[in-house]
Amino acid sequence: MDRSTPVPTATPYGTLPPASPMASRKPISLPRLHDLRARGEKITMLTAYDATFAAVADAAGVECILVGDSLGMVCQGLSSTVGVTLETMRYHTESVVRGLHRVQGTAWVVADLPFGSYHESPEQAFRSASVLMQAGAHMVKLEGGGWTTDTVRFLVERGIPVCAHLGLTPQTVHALGGYRVQGRDEAAAQQLRRDALALQDAGAALMVLEMVPVAVSRDITEAMPRCHTIGIGAGNGTAGQVLVMHDMLGIHLGKNPKFVHNFMAEAGDVRAAMAAFVHAVKSGSFPDNALHAWA
Ligand code: KIV
Repeated sequence: MDRSTPVPTATPYGTLPPASPMASRKPISLPRLHDLRARGEKITMLTAYDATFAAVADAAGVECILVGDSLGMVCQGLSSTVGVTLETMRYHTESVVRGLHRVQGTAWVVADLPFGSYHESPEQAFRSASVLMQAGAHMVKLEGGGWTTDTVRFLVERGIPVCAHLGLTPQTVHALGGYRVQGRDEAAAQQLRRDALALQDAGAALMVLEMVPVAVSRDITEAMPRCHTIGIGAGNGTAGQVLVMHDMLGIHLGKNPKFVHNFMAEAGDVRAAMAAFVHAVKSGSFPDNALHAWA
């Protein structure tokens, strides 16, 4: 019998194809993300919370999968991300990572540290981050600037890659007074810039910029060669783009924010919709500043 040819096994319940013996693409790593930025190619990121969607996103060419605490809203039906626990994040991170292993996926997996899991001290953040890294994440994400800088440095020095998150930070939605654009006046924009540069100096390698005016996110991106901005509602001047998977597939319980585009409407199936997102980001057609961003 020829053992080099995998025998396709029928898998029930719409689960994943059997793992192929050889990965056809090289795994995404921090150096590869730096290379993308260096050659001016946009970085793509989508959220995923389970094995199958993660595998499909990977197959569609998405470079980074975010196990976002937005799962609290889209999977658990919570009214904000504040109620998401570390145990829930561990469970979903493990599911995503298992899905990727199953198909020899290559995506870089970022997992959100949930509210309350990193706020006390850098040591608490390290313990929480260890749970997500041991679940298979490659990087953890945490929200906020200023007070988080020491925590980011503490994690990076101990070998944990960190994605920062500035602008609209959903875990502090109650303090911010709602889901509003951040950094609109000059003082707030300057504060965002200072926070971003301090986080880059502390070693953050990626930074989500959410609901920030186009000029502010462009300026921050240009000022940070070592930390790559991933925008959501921040215009087309960032190093990459992220969307919540349910939003870009047109599955939502309320009204979508203006920065979302429904890629499913024209695509017909989930993999094609994700591939269309990748193509639109890389070609520069998404986001369109006139439609999906704020001046
Ligand atoms: O939790 C999440 O999905 C996020 C994205 C909105 C960037 O943080």
